[in-house]
Amino acid sequence: MLSIFPTKDGSDTLLDDSLNVTYHSINGAIQESLHVFIEEGLKKLEFSKDKIRILEIGFGTGLNAWLTFLETKNKPLFSVEYIAIEPFPIEKEILEKLNFPQINFENKEISFQLFHQKIEDDSFENNFQLKILKVKWDEFNDFQKFDLIFYDAFGPENQPEMWSKEALKKAAEYLNKNGIWVTYCAKGEVRRNMIENGLRLERIPGPPGKRHMLRGLKYS
Ligand SMILES: C[S@@+](CC[C@H](N)C(=O)[O-])C[C@H]1O[C@@H](n2cnc3c(N)ncnc32)[C@H](O)[C@@H]1O
Repeated sequence: MLSIFPTKDGSDTLLDDSLNVTYHSINGAIQESLHVFIEEGLKKLEFSKDKIRILEIGFGTGLNAWLTFLETKNKPLFSVEYIAIEPFPIEKEILEKLNFPQINFENKEISFQLFHQKIEDDSFENNFQLKILKVKWDEFNDFQKFDLIFYDAFGPENQPEMWSKEALKKAAEYLNKNGIWVTYCAKGEVRRNMIENGLRLERIPGPPGKRHMLRGLKYS
């Protein structure tokens, strides 16, 4: 059962009663997504390519996808292919009720709800392609790699299988050279596993309320 849960920055998140876990930080859902995935992920990519491929593991509400869309919308010289996986899609009635006010963005014209309408109508412009796949991470496969991976599964205490050596290795293997893997999680074991998988790992400051997060770079 999912219920709407307000967070401290004024944006909502969802609470999954069965796992007793929220989809975002209770200190601020938008604040967390902006910090972890946009500021420390997307904005750290080298924008020298004309197209970037992003993989999100755990699409959930679509908050990260919406913020990525807003951030890249006015950069017409390059395009984004955003593939997200979500085995348990959220019902439209719940998405419609979520309050995600547009903070910190110049492009205020596309609200979260309008973004979801665009997904439904498949009405994005050519420079933003979004595909949501109803598969689990261990079932996912693609013949192409990614420049950026948003690793946004539930935490190791709730979903240990998403943080197993095997699951993390799969993410590292899906990165292109100079690709970035980013997550809100800062666990030492996750960090060590990603180093073993050939990434250069950084433990960097997390969003308010969370000391650290991880970012990995595939340097070869
Ligand atoms: C922390 S939430 C993601 C929050 C999301 N990115 C958002 O902005 O709303 C974790 C997500 O992972 C999904 N999930 C659960 N099991 C999964 C699996 N085996 N593979 C991929 N995603 C999974 C959950 O349904 C949930 O939507």
